[in-house]
Amino acid sequence: MVLGIESSCDETGVGLVRDGVLLGQAVASSMDEHARYGGVVPEIAARAHVHAMAPAVREALDRAGLTLEDVGAVAVTTGPGLAGALQVGVAAAKGYAFSLGVPLYGVHHLAGHVAAAALDGGPLPDPCVVLIVSGGHTSLLLVRDLARDPIVHLGDTLDDAAGECFDKVARILGLPYPGGPAIDHAARDGDPTAVRLPRPLTGPQDDPYAFSFSGLKTAAARWVEAQREPHVQNAAAALQEAIADVLTRKAVRACVDHGIGTLVVVGGVAANSRVRALAEQRCAAAGIALRVPPLRLCTDNGAMVAAVGDLLVRAGAEPAPADLSVDPSAPLEFAALTPRPLVRT
Ligand code: KG4
Ligand code: ZN
Repeated sequence: MVLGIESSCDETGVGLVRDGVLLGQAVASSMDEHARYGGVVPEIAARAHVHAMAPAVREALDRAGLTLEDVGAVAVTTGPGLAGALQVGVAAAKGYAFSLGVPLYGVHHLAGHVAAAALDGGPLPDPCVVLIVSGGHTSLLLVRDLARDPIVHLGDTLDDAAGECFDKVARILGLPYPGGPAIDHAARDGDPTAVRLPRPLTGPQDDPYAFSFSGLKTAAARWVEAQREPHVQNAAAALQEAIADVLTRKAVRACVDHGIGTLVVVGGVAANSRVRALAEQRCAAAGIALRVPPLRLCTDNGAMVAAVGDLLVRAGAEPAPADLSVDPSAPLEFAALTPRPLVRT
């Protein structure tokens, strides 16, 4: 059984996975402590992880009816993320692994988001197209065997991530942090056609799989500035529609172009109701199977990290070295992350 630890941002996540089955998990969030600053404060997040880590491990084990003796391997997010926050998770993971005498695996946070989808509905088909949409990343990936094969980037965002666009526009509209859920909620009572917003990089000459959200954010900001009393619900609905439209249009196109029958949508923004609905509608129309994990597996959690660890263990992957460290800006190339060698000058 793999103990997974996630601490790359403001969630302290612990998960327990065996043979692709989630046995228990616990998530503690320091989100409330960051809300008054309008964004995550790295030092506050790191300190909160220190306090939350051991209780979260205990809670996950209790929920699964297991003890530390049942842990056969430990997996931890080593990047990307906030350096200090990642350090807390890696230190904890090393402590558990070494004291229990079990192997340790360093995991890429985004591979965790992908693996989360396998905890709901079984192993992912090989190959599949994965749309990762979070607060820091927006990528269209071609995924084969997550534990063995390199991950192919079909397209990435050229500037802001989709979640960042939700968060920043929410702030402009005076909605609380985190902005994604707030916009999702406000959009329920809005008319998405009331505000005209662009669909960036969807022209015939544009890269079909690349994303750009900073222009959309600016267009929304200009619209708000031009209003005496901006209609928050309408703006939220229009922004949500623009983001959901671009994301799902490109994701379905990637599947069709590559002849791939399954689209997986993961990451915090996969929790968005319109992204989910439009993905369902467009996949159904194109004859593509859609996999979107349940909400609690979409946002950051420890189960997704344990899920990657479980795949690595079953693939016979080499454990991480004892001097495993964090890599705050790790590119997504493989699910297992052994930090790149430090360049000494
Ligand atoms: O994956 P995640 O939990 O953390 C990162 O790795 O970034 O994603 C967080 C992002 C935030 O930008 C948040 O606003 C967004 O996911 N998000 C949503 C929704 N729930 C979370 N965006 C739109 N609609 C939602 N319902
Ligand atoms: Zn994430």
